[in-house]
This record gives sequence, C-alpha cells and structure tokens, in this order.
Amino acid sequence: MFQRTEAPVFAAVLAAGKGTRMRSNRAKVLHTICGVPMVNYVISALEPVAPMETLVVVGHQADEVRAVLPPGVGSVLQEEQNGTGDAVRVALEGIEEEEGILLVVNGDGPLISGRTLVELVERHRVAGVGATVLVAELDDATGLGRVMEDAGVVRIVEEKDATEAERRIRLVNLGLYAFDLSEIRHALGLVGTQNAQGEIYLTDALEIIGRRSRAVTYRVKSLEEAHLVNDRAHLALAEEIVRRRILDAHMRAGVTVRDPVSTHIEASVEIGRDTVVLPGTFLRGGTKIGSDCVIGPSTDLLDTVVGDGALVEHSVGRGAAVGPGANVGPYAYLRPGTVLGEVSKVGAYCELKNTKVGAGSKVPHLSYVGDAEIGEGANLGAGTITANYDGKDKHRTTIGSGVFTGINTNLIAPVTIGENAYLGAGSVVNKDIPPGKMAVGMPARVIRDAPEKVSKDGKKKQGDQGGE
Ligand code: UD1
Ligand code: CA
Repeated sequence: MFQRTEAPVFAAVLAAGKGTRMRSNRAKVLHTICGVPMVNYVISALEPVAPMETLVVVGHQADEVRAVLPPGVGSVLQEEQNGTGDAVRVALEGIEEEEGILLVVNGDGPLISGRTLVELVERHRVAGVGATVLVAELDDATGLGRVMEDAGVVRIVEEKDATEAERRIRLVNLGLYAFDLSEIRHALGLVGTQNAQGEIYLTDALEIIGRRSRAVTYRVKSLEEAHLVNDRAHLALAEEIVRRRILDAHMRAGVTVRDPVSTHIEASVEIGRDTVVLPGTFLRGGTKIGSDCVIGPSTDLLDTVVGDGALVEHSVGRGAAVGPGANVGPYAYLRPGTVLGEVSKVGAYCELKNTKVGAGSKVPHLSYVGDAEIGEGANLGAGTITANYDGKDKHRTTIGSGVFTGINTNLIAPVTIGENAYLGAGSVVNKDIPPGKMAVGMPARVIRDAPEKVSKDGKKKQGDQGGE
C-alpha cells in the first residue's frame, strides 16, 4: 500500500474581515456568486489538495459564516480583525501538529482553482523552502501588496506603506501561501504592528521566514484566478466568469443555450442532454432539468425538478416538480409542493401551490389551485379556483380523475369532487359531489355581516370595509 511520507497539509482560509469596500451589512465572504457564498469557492478549490484539516478563520458574522461551511470544515474565531498575520496566528492555535505545511488561502479570491493550489503546495515541497507565495503580474495593482523577490527573501509592501517607486511594481501578492508549519509559528511570534494600518501583517512573517529558510514566489498561470473581490463591481465580474464557466460546462455536456448572455444557471443545477434553454432564464438552487426539455424564455426555476421532454415557458417555479412531457406556461406560477404528472398541463395565468396534478390533467387558464389533489385526465375550466383558505385555516380539495369543471368554478375547501363528475359554469361547490354526477349553480346571496377584520397584532382594523 502507498505510504504517505510527505508532510501533511493544513489549510487556513482567511475569512474574518468585514470587507469594508463592499459597503454591506453582510460579511464579504457571504456574498454569493451564482448562488454560492464566496467562501465556499475557496473551500472547493482546496478539495484536490486534500488537507488533513481545513480551518476557516471567522470573525465578522462568525455564526452566519459558520452556517454555510460544508461538513468537515472547521472554524476558529478571530475576535478582532487585527490583520492577516493575526488571523493566521488564530488558525495556528487550532492546529496541534508540529510538522507539516500550512496552506493559507484568501477568502476573497473565489476564482482560484484547485490545480493552482495543488501546484503551489508541490512547488513549495520541491523547493524545500520555508514559504512560497502565489503572485501575479497585473496591469492594475491598486490596493494590493507589491512583491519584491531577492536572493531567497520575498518582501511584500502594502500600498499604504509603499514608496512611489514601490507603487509602480505590478507584481502583486494574491494572499495565498504555503508555509512550513514550524517556520510560520516562529515568525508570527516576531511580527509587530509598526505599519500604516497598525495591523499584524502576514507578509512580515513571510519576510522573516525568507531570511531564515528562504522564501520563493510562484506565479499564477491564469490571470482570471488572480481576480480578488473587494467591491461589488469585482463581485459582478467574478460572477460573470463563474456564470460563463457553468454555461460552458452545460453546453459541452449537450445542452443548447440560445443566449448565454442572458442565461443564469447556478452551480448546483443539473440539465439533461438536448434540452434547450431559451433567453432570460434563471435556473437556481436544487433545480434539475431532464433531457429534451425546452425551458424559457423568461423562466425562473428555483429548486424545481423538470422531467424529460417537458416545456416550461415564461414561468416561475419554486420547489415544484414538473412531470415528463408536461407543458407549463406561459405565465404559470408553480409554488412549493406542486407536483405535475406526466403530460399534464398548467397554462396561462395559473398559480398552483401544494397541489398534485395527475397524469394528463389540465389546468389551462386563469386558475388558482392550492392544497389540492387532482386525479388523472381531469380538465379544469378557465378560472377554476380553490377557496382553500377561510381566513384562518387551510383546507384541502380533492378532484377525482376525469372531472370536468366549467369556467369560473369555485371549490370551497374542504371538498371532494368524485371521479368523472361534471360541474357547470360558475358553480360554487361547498359540498362533496358524488362520482359521475353533474352539479350546477349556487348564486351568491347576502346572509349576515362580514366577520370583523383583525390585523396581525390582534387589533381590530379601523374603517376597513374591504374592497367594494
Ligand atoms: C492582504 C495582503 C496583501 C495582498 C492582499 C490580497 C497583508 C498584510 N496584505 O491585503 O499583500 O495583496 O491580501 O488580497 O496580508 N482577514 C482576516 N482577518 C484579518 C484581516 C483579514 O481574516 O484580521 C481576511 C479577510 O477576510 C480577507 C483576507 O484576510 O479574506 C485578506 O484581507 P484584506 O483585508 O482584504 O487584505 P489586506 O490585508 O488588505
Ligand atoms: Ca486589510
């Protein structure tokens, strides 16, 4: 069996900062790119490195950041954000081992690839140095640490501490490092806060290590990976790149995307072969689309599962399931718990919630159906509505197979319509209808005073007589 003789790798993800330039109440690493918090991108990039332990340094909104971390990824709290060196010091307190490599990853560089991190570690091992830092040569180095390498010493000067001449340097620090564990422990013990920001700079430790046991730079191969997110414009650019990567992967796997510019697909979404995604479409969360479907244009599906050969146009789905060959839209709204059977149809201006539509059944026009179960081969006339809510509680409606409802049928739940029953246009149904029967009528008539309106805080509403 393969014996691992190499020193183990520990990873520290720096994610405690607020990210002032985001101008946000939310910690920077929680901002999402294609639906996934930024911090999760760097954690995914760590996978091929297979660290023995990954620790995320949290601070700002620590609980919220912890909540998005995948299982197996630990966290350590940096109470005050005293700088990157302090953040690494906190991480080191969580690592007991003496020997190994500490891979430090900047939480705000979501485009970094696993391959680059593997190469950084490999480079570091092969060079046998105390530290290796990932760098890039950028046209615009604004705000980043400038890198100077000389005879095994890497010195990084922050923009705020830099001289005129140093500011002209375009080689920048990307905030990713491989350190010899004992070297970084030692060096951080020596770092002070004598700099423009009064912070403990990790880069000072890098310089100290260089003098003791040599440090080297490693240049990132693709500049795209060097993209760091410090403000919302950077965030949008990162999203643009990730979005395009996701689309490219789907297209290579056999999905037609008519207009990549206007199509937004989150990382977690699955799509089958020969499905066509039309412009203006958003596919998000746990959405899964089968093969040979047409989705869009202008469709927004969140956590929605669509079977093979289904059509969904100009519609919105939230936690719904669309059966194979079903036809949805235009302008349908499928809310959570909606399950459409095979070759069923939900047409224009229909809203369905927590409703099962049996195979081949149709809800073609202008309906609201909530908390209902419709059997197979039923047809609901235009404007069929379930009155599922009596102002206090929700009630269920059951519609048997083969039922036909006329236009503007009102079904006052709880109510059951037996199989193959037939309801005339405009009927208001508040009692169960036996199978195979036809029912019509019930015009509205005044019976008593309307119930008093009570607002959410329990107070009676003044002068609210409802609509006229
Ligand atoms: C740091 C580097 C700079 C480099 C840049 C790349 C230092 C001194 N400077 O800049 O050379 O070009 O990263 O992005 O290291 N963080 C903490 N705790 C803290 C401070 C920061 O966890 O106390 C985290 C932040 O959440 C962020 C990362 O560290 O994810 C970088 O912090 P940031 O303040 O953006 O970097 P700088 O210190 O400005
Ligand atoms: Ca800073």
